[in-house]
Amino acid sequence: MDFGRKGCFMHIGRVLITQEEIYSRVRELADQISADYADRNPILISLLKGGFIFLADLVRHITIPHEVDFITVHSYRDGLKRSERIEILNDLKRSVRDRDVIIIDDIVDTGHTLSFLEQMLDERRVRSLRVCALLDKPSCREIAVPVDYVGFKVPDVFVVGYGLDFMERYRNLSYIAELIPAAVLDEAADVPARKEERSAHAK
Ligand code: IMP
Ligand code: MG
Repeated sequence: MDFGRKGCFMHIGRVLITQEEIYSRVRELADQISADYADRNPILISLLKGGFIFLADLVRHITIPHEVDFITVHSYRDGLKRSERIEILNDLKRSVRDRDVIIIDDIVDTGHTLSFLEQMLDERRVRSLRVCALLDKPSCREIAVPVDYVGFKVPDVFVVGYGLDFMERYRNLSYIAELIPAAVLDEAADVPARKEERSAHAK
């Protein structure tokens, strides 16, 4: 259990995708990418930080020559809350001009981050651009962005694990789980056990 910023306990809830399911799906995606990009030496661009575990597992099953690069894009997100303001914190190290690029993303939610990146890569004159996302939350989309390779579709819940965090925690889980924002405790006067838990945390 974790203590969120706004006086709210966070719980790890249901496991939505197990370690075994992730392993076999990542292998399938790697096989598909290896087949689609034979002889093309694509650059796989991982979005940090959420995409680092996915990239590391994916490339170990890719059988064709390829390169990797990293970009840190900050989308102003306060815990669970979404925002549309996006900024590059750490840019790519190599030119992508005339290259086949695959963005390796942890999760596509509103689509704002991907849309921003697609526009940026388009301006840098890539030869081709595809997106590979471990998770897709299609019901949350605000901007239409094509996702060419999808690991799993997930419902509109906040998920953590396998690289995905909540306030920098839970990236190390080997599975994907739902994070349950417990009711704001000040309002949950009818749940005395939780109130006790909170005061214990505060000590
Ligand atoms: P966007 O809303 O599609 O722009 O997603 C921006 C980023 O928010 C993603 O790359 C994730 O890092 C993060 N994000 C979106 N949904 C979740 C979630 O359920 N858990 C953890 N991070 C998330
Ligand atoms: Mg994140």
